[in-house]
Order: sequence, then structure tokens, then C-alpha cells
Amino acid sequence: MHSTDTAQAPALRLVGLTKNFGANRVLKGVDLDLVPGTITALLGANGAGKSTLIKILAGVHEPSGGELRLGGEPVDLGSPMAAARAGVRTVHQRIDDAIVPGLSVAENLLFEDIALKEVRPVASLRSLLPRARKIAATLDLDWDDAFLRQDVHELGIADCQMLLLARALSTTPQVLILDEPTSTLSQNEAERLFSVVARLRDRGVAILYVSHRLSEINALADRLAVLRDGRIVNAQHLPFDLQEAVTAMLGEGVLADAAELEELHGTGTMLSIRDHRIFPESSPVDVDFAAGEVTGIIGLIGSGKTELAEAVFGARRSASGSMTLDGEPFAPRDPKQAIGRGVYLVPEDRAAQGMLPGWSLMRTLSLPFLSDFLRNGILSPRREREAGAAAIDRFSVVATGPGQSVDALSGGNQQKVMVARWMQRAPRVLLLDEPFRGVDIGARRVISHRAREQAAAGSAVIMICSDVDEVREIADRIIVLVEGRITLDARASDITNEQIIQSMTEVA
Ligand SMILES: Nc1ncnc2c1ncn2[C@@H]1O[C@H](COP(=O)(O)OP(=O)(O)OP(=O)(O)O)[C@@H](O)[C@H]1O
Ligand SMILES: [Mg+2]
Repeated sequence: MHSTDTAQAPALRLVGLTKNFGANRVLKGVDLDLVPGTITALLGANGAGKSTLIKILAGVHEPSGGELRLGGEPVDLGSPMAAARAGVRTVHQRIDDAIVPGLSVAENLLFEDIALKEVRPVASLRSLLPRARKIAATLDLDWDDAFLRQDVHELGIADCQMLLLARALSTTPQVLILDEPTSTLSQNEAERLFSVVARLRDRGVAILYVSHRLSEINALADRLAVLRDGRIVNAQHLPFDLQEAVTAMLGEGVLADAAELEELHGTGTMLSIRDHRIFPESSPVDVDFAAGEVTGIIGLIGSGKTELAEAVFGARRSASGSMTLDGEPFAPRDPKQAIGRGVYLVPEDRAAQGMLPGWSLMRTLSLPFLSDFLRNGILSPRREREAGAAAIDRFSVVATGPGQSVDALSGGNQQKVMVARWMQRAPRVLLLDEPFRGVDIGARRVISHRAREQAAAGSAVIMICSDVDEVREIADRIIVLVEGRITLDARASDITNEQIIQSMTEVA
């Protein structure tokens, strides 16, 4: 049963909450109630202030003004530990902020309990394993002792995200806050999360859930609130009017000009892959990618889609096989060689792989193309700034200007910068690994339009994703990967979503 009983006393009440970063007034008076046994979805464009709000509730940021009330009493969530002790558990958007490097997976799982002294300080790793296994099991993660003992940096981002979720769920909190928890997960993992979240709701937990995926919000939430320009501008109970929510979030007309682009048909092979083993133990794959169209590669975690993209980009040694690019042999030993041949990759783990802390937005954008900005051997700051301003404009990046440091951008805006970086030039092959991750619906439209324009102009565009609706939105041809094998390869217009989903779970 969905409870929409607002007569119930809120677990956590936000009253006139404000937050400024210097002159930047991000939150201008947010009023919101989080009610026990209720999932409240928080929507807002990239840079609207959702994560800032959440960091206040998690004790990471101090509010500039306003009040928080927990169970009717004013509360000071002055530190992450104070928040955790008060029963407010948070899964932050940026995984790096919450993973503790140098510790094992088990210690990371138990980190808050260790810090709150609920379990004894790390006497031996072995003594932690039974409890760590139990916490992992809340999300049906069958992590064995060897997995739990390894250093956390061995984990991919999806596993890190599952770890942080399991950590937050290790006790039943009063308030649970999830900041885009599914953006790194595939459908399977996301569904596991949904069932746990629904279970906690039924146990009376007040849940705040941030996501850019409307289908998720519709399926999961009991209430929604839209944050825009520092205030809650729209609040709804079920049944939701999502059109109204999106308009409140982005303004009139943002989605109206998103005219459908015509289906593209490839103009001939650009990239040809032969006898390539995606994993050392998988059987060899042959596949061609055409210029002039968008190919979507979809698969669950472990399907090998990122591995395939990295092999093409020279970031991963392939165990076997050969490639040709535009008819010429192509065997990049590193990404630099691939870039030199016109093969670009927008990586999945963008923040970790492409953001240098403290760097300006414009330098982050121009880094791979610095030689283009040279004038008589000297970097032209004016041209770099112009290119930066153009990218900010084209992708609607919320930033104070091309000189702003990338660290201070919101998560979605950092993602947009990295996508924008690789769309500044016309490549022969453009590989986009989960390009919609963390970006709002408006930006998602912009990215898919730009990608399709690039294909229409003659690039082979290859988009990798794990969501059926996302691949539908962008691809002319769809390839399904399962454990390094191709289980489906068809024109998008010839296949149904059911066929795609079925092929994604086809076993050998
Ligand atoms: N530590 C900081 N210093 C300065 N400005 C910041 C800082 N953190 C956030 N901001 C600014 O606050 C605004 C809101 O950022 P926030 O991360 O809260 O957005 P968001 O709604 O979570 O967006 P997204 O959907 O992209 O995650 C942005 O303009 C950002 O540049
Ligand atoms: Mg955010």
C-alpha cells in the first residue's frame, strides 16, 4: 500500500532552508516534509541544488539559514556522524566521496558502524566478515569472503554503488536519503534496490529519493517535489502529472523543440572488429560499425560493453583479433593513438577519468585538443575561452563561466562537460559510454540530438547503455551483449522492447 497520509507527523521537516556558496545563492528557502512510510521524490534540473540540500541533511554542509526539525524538535545535524546518530542515513551522488580508499570491501560496508562504535574497532578483518556478509545479503549480493577481503579500489563503479547502498541499509534508519542511486546501476541491480527501498518504506522509514529517471519516480514514489531556482515550485501526490513536473523543472518549451530526427542508415563500414575476445574466456566476436548511423550496445553489468569500448579506444589490451578503421589496420596501443586516428571515448566513469580537481571548465574541455589552441607555439587563452563558452552554451552547463573550477559544478553538469569535451570535434568513431548518466531530461535530449547530428555528418557513433528506453531514444541499430557474446543485432525499428530485454538475459 502506498501511504499518502500527510496528516502524519513528519519525521524530518525542512523550514525555510537556505544555502549560499559565496555570492551564489543556491537554496533560497526550501520547505519540505519527509513523512514516515513515504517515499518523496526530489526532481530538479542539473545544478538546481538537490545534492546541496541533501548534503545539509547529511551533516556535510551547514545551512546558511532556516531550520531542521527531527520528530518535531529542532535538530543540529552538524556532522555526518551526528546525522547518522540521529538516524539520517545518506547515499551520496558521488561515489568517491563515500568510499574509504585503502580499506577492504568489508570495512567499507561496516564503516559507519565502526565509526559509531557499534562494532568493535577493527580487531581483525576476519571477525567482521560474518556481519559484512549479512549486510551484503540485504541487497542479495552474494559476496564471498575473498570478495569482502579485497581492497575496495578493485571494485567497479556499479559494485561501489551497491556497497554504499548496502552500507546505508545496514540498519533501519528513521530517514533514508538516496541521491541518484541508480544512475550507475543496470536494470537488474536497480530492481533489487527498489524492492529494498519499498520494504523500508513499509517499515515506516521516511525516504527522500533523487532521480532524473521519471519512470523510476512514477513506479516508486508516493510524493514528488520539484526544486527550481532555490525553492520547491511544484509538489504532488499520486497519481503524478509528470508533464507538469517536467515543465515546473525546466520551463515551458524546453521539450517542445525536440523534434524527432529521422532514422539514419549507415553509409558503409567505418570500424570493423574480427575475432575479438571481449573476455579472455569468451568466444570471439565479429562486428562492424557503420558511419552515418548510431549503434546502441546494451547489456547488463558484466556483459562486456565497457570492455569492448575500451579495447577500441586502446585503453585495454585485447587478447585476440584485429580491427580496421576506414579500411586501414587499426591497433591502438593507448588512447592517445586512438584519439590521433579520430576515435574518441566518453568514458563511463567520467568524474574519475577525466576531471582534474582545481582545473577550470575550459581547460577540462580543451585538454585533448590543446595543440588546436596554439598560436605560434603559445596557448591562446582567448580561443580556449571562446571554445569553453560555446560548449557551455551548447550543452546548457550551469556554471559561472568558462573559468569556473570543475569541482564546484553539480554532478550532472560535470557529466555534461565531459560529453561536451568529446563532441567539440568531428571524430571518425565516437564511443559514448552511458552518456545520459546523471543528466537531466533537457540535457539528455541535447546529447542525443548532438550524437545523431554527428552520425548524420559521417561519424560512426556507438552508444553504450543499460537502459532499454535510453537506447531506443538514440540508436538506429541495437546490439545486445551477454557475457561477451552478441545475442541480438537488429535495426531498432524492427524489434520490440520485449525482444531486447529477452536477449539481455539469454544464457549460453
Ligand atoms: N562546494 C561548492 N562550492 C561552490 N558552489 C557549489 C558547491 N557545491 C555546489 N555548488 C553549486 O551549487 C549549485 C547546485 O549544485 P548541486 O550539486 O546541489 O546541484 P544538483 O541539483 O544536485 O544537480 P545534478 O542534477 O547535476 O546533480 C551549482 O550551481 C553548483 O555549482
Ligand atoms: Mg546532484
